[in-house]
Amino acid sequence: MNIEEIRADFPILSTTVYGKPLIYFDNGATTQKPKCVVDEIEKIYYTTNANVHRGVHHLSQQATDMAEEARVVVQQFINAKHSREIIFTKGTTESINLVAHSFCQQFCSAGDEIIISAMEHHANIVSWQLQEKIRGIKLKIVPINEKGELIIDEFRNLISAKTRLVSITHVSNVLGTINPIEEIIAIAHKHEIPVLIDAAQSVQHIALDVQKLDCDFLVFSGHKLYGPNGVGVLYGKEKWLNQMPPYQGGGEMISQVSFKGTTFNELPFKFEAGTPNYPDVIAQAVAIKYIKNIGLDSIKVYEDQLLEYCTEKLAKIEGVRIFGTSEKKSSVISFLVGNIHHYDMGMLLDKMGIAVRTGHHCAQPLMEELGIEGTVRVSFAFYNTKEEIDRFIDALKRVISMF
Ligand code: ALA
Repeated sequence: MNIEEIRADFPILSTTVYGKPLIYFDNGATTQKPKCVVDEIEKIYYTTNANVHRGVHHLSQQATDMAEEARVVVQQFINAKHSREIIFTKGTTESINLVAHSFCQQFCSAGDEIIISAMEHHANIVSWQLQEKIRGIKLKIVPINEKGELIIDEFRNLISAKTRLVSITHVSNVLGTINPIEEIIAIAHKHEIPVLIDAAQSVQHIALDVQKLDCDFLVFSGHKLYGPNGVGVLYGKEKWLNQMPPYQGGGEMISQVSFKGTTFNELPFKFEAGTPNYPDVIAQAVAIKYIKNIGLDSIKVYEDQLLEYCTEKLAKIEGVRIFGTSEKKSSVISFLVGNIHHYDMGMLLDKMGIAVRTGHHCAQPLMEELGIEGTVRVSFAFYNTKEEIDRFIDALKRVISMF
């Protein structure tokens, strides 16, 4: 990978913050966008703006064709069997809420159980808690060990005749742990239990093949995959999606509407109520092509080098505690130094041009488990460099010396 060339594709990386060159280490929250993605959005609005699936006119047909081609780009990216198994949503959160609502409506009764884990993002907790209230289902939580890894034997013990679904993150947004999803899926499938994989923190780092994984659902957000805000993906096996009722009503999700009763459209449209966010969907396809061109395998190797380099440097600083020490980690490091508050650390690093995330990272139950309120988190993308890590480490030492 030619990092200089890659960085030139991301204009924001050459900007300054408080007069200092920006170091963007908050890629777990959102990634920066290459110029080709931003250019595509502008081009669509200047040349192709129309509603999709609703017009006989040229622009509408062109926009519709481009949006459906984008669906195929996503299908091929995760190797889904059919493009109709790709549902566009607003993001990971909406994708999980859709499954929680529609799957539970169809398949769950009071007392049925859904298994999640102690390291889930709120999106994969609260969506199910809403169903606890609505339908009386129960959540079972897979615990973690001191390295921040799922305890698989405990997972096995949680499975019962009442388990209806397992919903697990692939990569923890706090700990960076890469969970053994192949093993989890195999165990669940032995009991004929479907599995949802939250790939919000993995799809940008690890090549995914949903057919090989054999997961039943997989969800992610476009904005963490170098695409625009407001695009999410729900992959679902056709056999499940066909049985699930629509999540929202309106727009092209219908077949026929009558006051006597309404029938619904086929997949994927049954789950895409309202005017779809087609400009961003098309731009997302451009982002995916950009990533594929660099190659996720090369990206992973490079990001692993950044992870190792930064972890070693951080570990040498007195008083640093790193949360998440699994051997199988993605390029995310959460840490604290002595008694320095994470917000203070984040604010002072910001003044030096370094963007990190601070706080509970939308994973408060995990914070409770770790016995802390929050952490400082650095998360790397393939456009980051070891030089940036050196500058971050120097800045961190300066911050520490102020306390
Ligand atoms: N879930 C995103 C993060 O971890 C927002 O920062």
